Amino acid sequence: MHEWHMTDSTDRQLAAQYEAYPYPARDPREESRRLVVGSPSHLREIDHWIFGARRPASQPLNALMAGGGSGDGTVMLAQQMAWLGRPGRVTWLDRSGHARKVATARAAARGLENIAFEEGSILDLPRSGLGPFDYIDCCGVLHHLPDPAAGLASLVSVLAPGGGIGLMVYAPHGRTGVYMLQDALRLLAPAEEPPPDRVEVAKRLWKQVPETPWLRRNPWITDHLKGGDAGLYDLLLNPRDVAFTVPELAALVAGAGLRIACLVEPLRYDPDTWLADPRLHARTARLDPVARAALAEAICGNMGIHIAYCVRAEDSPAAPPWEDDAAIPVLRELDGPTLARGLRPDGVLPVTWDGLRCTVALPRLAAAFLSRVDGKRSWGEIVAEVVAAGASPEQAARDRQALVRAMEPLNRLLLAAPAG
Ligand SMILES: C[S@@+](CC[C@H](N)C(=O)[O-])C[C@H]1O[C@@H](n2cnc3c(N)ncnc32)[C@H](O)[C@@H]1O
Repeated sequence: MHEWHMTDSTDRQLAAQYEAYPYPARDPREESRRLVVGSPSHLREIDHWIFGARRPASQPLNALMAGGGSGDGTVMLAQQMAWLGRPGRVTWLDRSGHARKVATARAAARGLENIAFEEGSILDLPRSGLGPFDYIDCCGVLHHLPDPAAGLASLVSVLAPGGGIGLMVYAPHGRTGVYMLQDALRLLAPAEEPPPDRVEVAKRLWKQVPETPWLRRNPWITDHLKGGDAGLYDLLLNPRDVAFTVPELAALVAGAGLRIACLVEPLRYDPDTWLADPRLHARTARLDPVARAALAEAICGNMGIHIAYCVRAEDSPAAPPWEDDAAIPVLRELDGPTLARGLRPDGVLPVTWDGLRCTVALPRLAAAFLSRVDGKRSWGEIVAEVVAAGASPEQAARDRQALVRAMEPLNRLLLAAPAG
């Protein structure tokens, strides 16, 4: 193992963890039957939330996956770029050689040729000669670093002008119960012990704990049950993990000269989604965006992570051009005709996030629109077809807007990058 990237003994333990247990546990043979997709760094989300659906698809995208681990984000983005014939490259960067082997094998299994692999530390990026990058992913990494602010500053140092960063950090409320068991395991299996010994102790402890620890009552945290030894270690034995509330994340981001362009999913972070009382709405209306999101976090209590798309504070990219008839809407990981066929007769879309349900009211013409959203037709073409099928142009215009208002905050209806 190299020496240049360790900053303290806890960081050495962290490096040893990911060498012993690349995260997440992945078998390259599974690439033939499924692509792991998620946020941040879904290509549709980058196009929409970072670049406002204004950066041409023909412009090469130079992306960095900082702390790329076993390759989920790297493989997803590189595969999506390959499928759409998008030029550019995804650079995987991590200091775990074992994780590199897994990520490399996954890329090879898919025949992806648009990935570069770099073994090294995020903290050495400013001196690395790598970059600049149009997009940087840092998913589940900053909260393990000795100094998350220094880590983020390091990423910003290689961010191209006009570029953006997709972050995922832990959030405290949804992780209720995790830190108590981490405390217990620090006593039973100190971080200095070899990782496999600690895993064995953690498994024994989990079988023995009484009924009451909060983790037993937290059904939304399952890494220790479903994530194999890598998941168990990452959740309960990680030598360093710090959770960020929304205001703490906003402060971290602001400290790096960035601002949050989008918290995923936006509707989840809108307190009015969860509060029906107009008297309370009058109060939420007085809050700034960070306070509104902080309120949503506090009242929901189930957020275990935050996913944030960030841009430079001084950049004010225009909002996605929803009014542009030439713009092409896309449904992120949804099939338009299937979605349209499955809509309830009352036009209400049920949504569940970590056990928390809400309903989103869709306009009357929702099915007519959604059945035509295929990533190829433009808004203008879709509206023309809906009108030709019998809708009035006024109703079509109103319902198009209403559909966008309902589904963009779900992170489901987005705009594609323009062709070129
Ligand atoms: C929890 S894993 C996340 C992996 C991947 N981003 C994902 O979400 O699937 C954290 C990763 O960060 C890497 N890491 C931690 N500190 C690092 C540093 N200073 N430089 C580079 N990678 C680091 C670890 O080796 C590990 O692979």
